[in-house]
Order: sequence, then C-alpha cells, then structure tokens
Amino acid sequence: MNDDIKNILYTILESIDEGVHVINNEGKTIIYNKAMEKMEGMKKSEVIDKNILDVFPSLDKATSTLLRALKNKEVILDIPQTYFNNHEKEITTINTTLPITVHNQVIGALEISKDITKLKYLSEQMISLQNQLSNPNHKKNYKRKFTFSSIIGKNENFTKAIEYAKKASNFSSSVLIYGETGTGKELVAQSIHYGSARANKPFIAQNCAAIPETLLESILFGTVKGSFTGAMNKEGLFEHANEGTLFLDEINSMGMQLQSKLLRVLQESNIRRVGSLDEIDVDVRIIASTNEDPYKLIKEGKLRKDLFYRINVMSINLPSLREREDDIELLIYYFIDKYNNRLNKKVKGVDESLLGWFRSYKWSGNVRELENIIEGAMNIVENNGILRKEHFSPQTNAKIFALTFNKEYKLKENLPNTLLQIEKNMITKALKSCNFNISKTSENLGIKRQTLQHKLKKLNIKVK
Ligand SMILES: Nc1ncnc2c1ncn2[C@@H]1O[C@H](COP(=O)(O)OP(=O)(O)OP(=O)(O)O)[C@@H](O)[C@H]1O
Ligand SMILES: [Mg+2]
Repeated sequence: MNDDIKNILYTILESIDEGVHVINNEGKTIIYNKAMEKMEGMKKSEVIDKNILDVFPSLDKATSTLLRALKNKEVILDIPQTYFNNHEKEITTINTTLPITVHNQVIGALEISKDITKLKYLSEQMISLQNQLSNPNHKKNYKRKFTFSSIIGKNENFTKAIEYAKKASNFSSSVLIYGETGTGKELVAQSIHYGSARANKPFIAQNCAAIPETLLESILFGTVKGSFTGAMNKEGLFEHANEGTLFLDEINSMGMQLQSKLLRVLQESNIRRVGSLDEIDVDVRIIASTNEDPYKLIKEGKLRKDLFYRINVMSINLPSLREREDDIELLIYYFIDKYNNRLNKKVKGVDESLLGWFRSYKWSGNVRELENIIEGAMNIVENNGILRKEHFSPQTNAKIFALTFNKEYKLKENLPNTLLQIEKNMITKALKSCNFNISKTSENLGIKRQTLQHKLKKLNIKVK
C-alpha cells in the first residue's frame, strides 16, 4: 500500500464517529482511533503496543470479545455493552468484533464500537412517553373536548378571531394560532377540529417544547426496528392522526432541522419513519401554535420562513385578556357558573366593587389565570354566597387588590399628593365597576353622594 492511501485511511479512521480497536495475533493493540479514545476514556499511548488484558484488567480471555474473535475465529455481531469508562462515566456501545484473516491465517482482530448512550436514553424516554399516550387513564384526562360553544367572549377583536376560526373549520388548510399563554390557543385548535369534517377522526396534540429534537422526530414520524437500540416498529403521531388533526403546540420550540423535515412532510403529504426510506402517505391537518410573534421569531432565526408560509395559510391572533377588558365580567360569571356545576354550589356572583380591580389587573396568565383565581375562591365561598375579597387567597389579594397601588404611584412623591392619587384611582375604578352610576359608586366607596360629587370636581375626574 502506498503512503498516500495509508494517510487517507488514517485520516478516515481518525474522523469517523465509530470507535475502532485492532489487536495483533499476540493480543497487542495496533490500532486505537480517536473515537475509541473518547468512548473508553483512554489515551492511545496507554493502549498501543500493550497487551489488552494488561490495559483492561477487568477483562479475561473469555470475556474479551477481541480475544474471543482471535482465538475462535468468531464473528460477534451487534452486541450492546453498558460499562463505566475510565472517567467513571456510564456509556452504552454497540460492538461488532471480527477476526482478521489473511491466507486463512488469523493475524488479528478488529472491534468497531458505536456510542449509543444518548440514543439509549432517548429511546427509553420515547417508549415511556408512548406508553403514557396509550394508557387509557391518560387518554381520558387528555380528551377534554372543546367546541366553539365553550369559547366565551364578546370583545370585537376576539369575536372576529373566533369567527375566522369557525371558517377555518370548513377547510383542511393549515392554521397558525398566535396568542400569549392562557389566551385559549388549545381551546380554539380543538374547536376547529371538532367543528370540522374530521371531528370523528383523532385530534392529537403534541407540545414541541422541552422535548429533545431526536426524540420529537421519532414521536412525530415513528421508528423502524433497529434504527437504534430499543427502537421498535412504531407508528408516529402523523400516522396516529391520519385523517384527523395534529396540533403542534409551541412550534417555535422545534429545532430548525426538524422544521425543515416537517415542511417536507407537509409538502409531500407523506412521512418516512426514522431509520426507513419507505414513504407512507398521510392525510393530516396541521394546526400549529406559537406564543411569540411569528414575524419576530423569523427575524430571530427561530422559525423557518418557508415553514411559516406553509402553515400560516389561515392565521388566528388571539388577543390577550388585557386587550379584552370588556370580557372580564362575562368570563368571571362564566367561571362561577362552571364551578357552581362542578362543586355543586349556588354562588350568585361577585362583589361588584371588585370588578374594577379585575379590569385593571395586568393578566399575564390571561384567561387561565383568571379561571384559576375564580376556582380558588369558589372553593372557599359559602354555598349561596357571593365572591368577596376574603374568599381570595392572600397572594391574590396582594397581587390584584393591593399591589396595583404600588405599581402606579411614584413613592418619591410627598404624602398628600400620593393620597390624592390613590383617591383618584379608587374613585375611577369604582366608577368603572358601577358603570358610572354615581349613587352606586358612592355607596360602594362608603361615602355620601355629595362628597363624591365634590371629589370628582376637585380631582378633575370626568364622568362619561
Ligand atoms: N375564551 C375562553 N372562554 C372560556 N374559557 C377559556 C377561554 N380562553 C381560555 N379559557 C380557559 O383557559 C384555559 C387555558 O386555555 P388554553 O389551554 O387553550 O390556553 P393556551 O393559549 O393554549 O395557553 P398555553 O400557551 O399556556 O398553552 C382553558 O382550559 C380554558 O378553560
Ligand atoms: Mg396550550
């Protein structure tokens, strides 16, 4: 062999991901590549020209696959091995060991190792997730069927978005739903599905955040046996959702590489299971969601532009609860009703003087946060009562009914000015919550009607 070829082979040996270990017919190591060094935590200099039993004292003639291949001319294929390497790190490899024969003479043995530690971990996670998915209890919890009738709101922008979503249920085009956390993205996605011709076929939701990309790929597209250890012939969610809808929640968390695979699937309407080249036709409607502005995501390189245009055929933008102040009262009464039914209570409503606070609170968790707060109070309130301040948790009290003050006043100002500001704010809120009815407002604030009139003038508060 000329030197050029030797150099080429050496470069290949040092660049591949598989570990290569070769011993001569005396059991001494003659080749030990970089990948093998990394896997076993040994240096070439510690291994080369040494007898393998001296270097790896835990092995003996019977357990060393290399020595077995040498002695018995045995070919040992695809044997998984889990062990602690020299850095006390647990690793799992798949090894193939063979004798090297020249003119019928065994001149040495070769071992090729593939590090599958990561894949093993991922496959175990995937299997456990898929078990969870097929567990009947899990399914029962999951299948909360939402339809358009469970979507509450009369705010103009919100109603427009919902009307558009209703139209989307007449088609099979992809939909992108954009809204902050708790604004009802899943609610809308389910309503579109259950209002569509696909209603009797599966609706499957998959959150794309917090799952490693390789695992998400296997979950979405399925696997074939042998694509990695533990991998079985399993259908992925695309096959599960065939003829139905797949809801890809938080699509912005999906890695760019998987985004491009997804784009291919959407364009071709077929998938390839991980480890297979066979194409399987699928008919799946995609609804995707993001809680960040998609255009901002594209700019930041977190969302592929081509995928965005492919899924943004119909786009639904759900306003935050801050932008739907006019729906707060409606939602509060809807949730009181919901938890009356659930808790078997007859709660009549909410203390009107609290409504102003609810309207001006910055709902960062949107409708979900509002629902949770009402649910909490519904547990405490007496059967026939109305929700008052004392029924809400101390945290809610601090957050909604007290802290708003601190946010709004500059504490550096002097006391009389601060007090005037507090007064002005309380009156404005009370007016709002009483629909600008002066008698009701004064009653709520516990002051005389004339006093209120006087304060309105003094504080320059306009009554509409
Ligand atoms: N318009 C609405 N009418 C009635 N209930 C609503 C409405 N919007 C949201 N909800 C309630 O709020 C909860 C949260 O909604 P959903 O799970 O759809 O939010 P999301 O936008 O998917 O949030 P996240 O981004 O955190 O996943 C729902 O379970 C539902 O009970
Ligand atoms: Mg959601």
